[in-house]
Amino acid sequence: MAQAYEKYLKEILIDEQTLQRRIAELGRRISEDYAAAGDLLMICVLKGGVMFLTDLMRHVSVPHEIDFLAVSSYGVGIRESTGNVRIDMDLKAQVENRHVLIVEDIIDSGHTLRFVMDVLLARHPASLKLCTLLDKASRRTVDIPIDYTGFEIEDKFVFGYGLDLDEKFRNLPFVGVVNLDAFTHD
Ligand code: IMP
Ligand code: MG
Repeated sequence: MAQAYEKYLKEILIDEQTLQRRIAELGRRISEDYAAAGDLLMICVLKGGVMFLTDLMRHVSVPHEIDFLAVSSYGVGIRESTGNVRIDMDLKAQVENRHVLIVEDIIDSGHTLRFVMDVLLARHPASLKLCTLLDKASRRTVDIPIDYTGFEIEDKFVFGYGLDLDEKFRNLPFVGVVNLDAFTHD
């Protein structure tokens, strides 16, 4: 029987093995870079970053804590983000004087991450870096300094591996390109 996601999948963009290999590499680099810091607080931006965080942290060998932040853009459709971002759920951890690494699924226009970074910077962390699995660099309208990137991807709407399609299919082990025809011909 065809699985529910299949009609929405145009093609697999990044398969499971490629994702996992790259995530292991990122984890090794983060471990090296934070070895001397003696502190690391990894902040996952919900919900999209959750698969990435849990896989990534398995490859981070320095002691670290995790926390979660949920944000949303409002007044927008499926495709566009605006500067109107708000916090839906704040961190439990204190950020002041901590070495903070934001873990995000995808950076598109950059509005969401600009907001998150400004909120965290105002709390005076010892350092603030950014790790994103996917970077749609060609769509950027706000400048964002990225310290760790999994994959730079083209301007295509993707889902799976934490990214949703109408809140579903975050559990897929790969990143797939959405078949837009499935929406117009339903
Ligand atoms: P930005 O504020 O435009 O950078 O958008 C970032 C947010 O938009 C991400 O955290 C995702 O939640 C969402 N997003 C952007 N592109 C995609 C995509 O291709 N698939 C699913 N979600 C996306
Ligand atoms: Mg996200």
